[in-house]
Amino acid sequence: MDPSDPARELLLDARGVGRSFPGRGRAPDTAALADVDLAVRRGELLALAGPSGSGKTTLLHLLATIDTPTRGEVRLLGEPVAGLTRAARARLRLRHVGLVFAEHNLSPALTAAENVDLPLALRRFSTEERARRTRDALARLGVDALAERRPDELSSGEQQRVALARAIAGDPALLVADEPTVHLDSEAARGLLDLLAELVAERDLAAIVATHDEQLLGRASRVVRLRDGRIEGTS
Ligand SMILES: Nc1ncnc2c1ncn2[C@@H]1O[C@H](COP(=O)(O)OP(=O)(O)OP(=O)(O)O)[C@@H](O)[C@H]1O
Ligand SMILES: [Mg+2]
Repeated sequence: MDPSDPARELLLDARGVGRSFPGRGRAPDTAALADVDLAVRRGELLALAGPSGSGKTTLLHLLATIDTPTRGEVRLLGEPVAGLTRAARARLRLRHVGLVFAEHNLSPALTAAENVDLPLALRRFSTEERARRTRDALARLGVDALAERRPDELSSGEQQRVALARAIAGDPALLVADEPTVHLDSEAARGLLDLLAELVAERDLAAIVATHDEQLLGRASRVVRLRDGRIEGTS
């Protein structure tokens, strides 16, 4: 099915979004993002590309409700994010958004299984439900045999699979990943991307991934290119 099909559920709607960071002392403000319009529907694997400093991470944080815009509006599942308290935003994110970063995704003191369980515990699922979801997510990502290991006992690729397992275990509508393959060799990166693309299709979610990875750009259903905080083009 065509991911831009308006019949598919609109998950994210960003309109006229801008983000400025106040300068320290007499330094001028940094306009990290300006005039961004972006709608994201279920079924999309959207790549955010652009040179370093172009605003990819800033935009991801706004779309994932980690941050709020200084201009414009972001709606997640129809809910205007700016109107929510920080706690309400955190609840919305916990329920609907799975996050994967480039590094330091996992708590170093916890095992892989405990890392996956943590957001499920925060959502107050029953003990059985948490155990089932953790087991299923680790198995889906092919890392169930590593459940009892701590992050420093895992390769970078294994850590990213565990991070992806944690991101999907709560059945989010949206996956948001910031350079998830940047520290992986091309084979491990390909494996992670295969899984990511399969999960988007299988679970009918949307994934938004900031990346410089050409392999990923080639697989995305849409590539949005940023430059100097603005959308330069979409392909
Ligand atoms: N907390 C902040 N305070 C001040 N300026 C910031 C802050 N976060 C980001 N910026 C600035 O906003 C601009 C965009 O940064 P951002 O991290 O979004 O870029 P990026 O596209 O993710 O780059 P990279 O590819 O290097 O990760 C940069 O000029 C950066 O210096
Ligand atoms: Mg970045």
